[in-house]
Amino acid sequence: MRRLTVDLAGRPYDIHIGSGLLDRLAGFVRPLQPSRLLVVTDKRVGALYGARAAAALQPVASTGSFELAGGETGKDLRAVESVLDALLAAGADRRSVVVALGGGVVGDIAGFAAAVYMRGIRFVQVPTTLLAQVDSSVGGKTGVNHPRGKNLIGAFHQPAVVVADTDTLRTLPQRELSAGLAEVLKHGCSPMPGTSGR
Ligand SMILES: NC(=O)c1ccc[n+]([C@@H]2O[C@H](COP(=O)([O-])OP(=O)(O)OC[C@H]3O[C@@H](n4cnc5c(N)ncnc54)[C@H](O)[C@@H]3O)[C@@H](O)[C@H]2O)c1
Repeated sequence: MRRLTVDLAGRPYDIHIGSGLLDRLAGFVRPLQPSRLLVVTDKRVGALYGARAAAALQPVASTGSFELAGGETGKDLRAVESVLDALLAAGADRRSVVVALGGGVVGDIAGFAAAVYMRGIRFVQVPTTLLAQVDSSVGGKTGVNHPRGKNLIGAFHQPAVVVADTDTLRTLPQRELSAGLAEVLKHGCSPMPGTSGR
């Protein structure tokens, strides 16, 4: 397992990357001392990993689950509202934590819901696509689409911790894997900050 620390002034957070981390989620989430947990996922990822994630987290705090339909077309304010409804129904308070289990779509919706619920509660990213593991789960950009454009509604909200279990990539369709690899190449070709690019 590798651990990277994002050194944000005042509030650093860790990114854990490795095999078999899904079943060890409790160890990464327990330090947050959450009052409750809500695992937000989509139908496909929920069917594959939802029960395992919830079972791993149950020893930490009472854990509920909520499934989004999934897909870019559902990345909208209605989806955010459905997560907020689920948080209210679960009795989530300011010490509750949202766990985003899935690709970039789930991370963006769940992260934005966490950013606005009770003016902001903590969230954990558990990215399951390559694109989400190398890009969208880190950096704190959350948000949804508007009929007038992509990612127009959102907020910066950093995750409390990121747990990237590389085993989950085994079930990823080839098309999604290629999208993630394209992102890896893009980053690899970008000049380092502060360099001239020559
Ligand atoms: N916030 C950011 O900084 C940032 C950066 C880049 C992209 N994004 C956003 O990310 C989104 C795209 O994310 P994505 O490419 O991860 O797509 P996605 O979240 O739609 O996932 C793609 C498909 O793969 C399925 N899936 C996910 N994990 C799986 C697994 N382990 N096994 C099998 N199936 C799995 C999902 O159910 C979905 O059907 C876009 O909305 C984009 O705007 C955000």
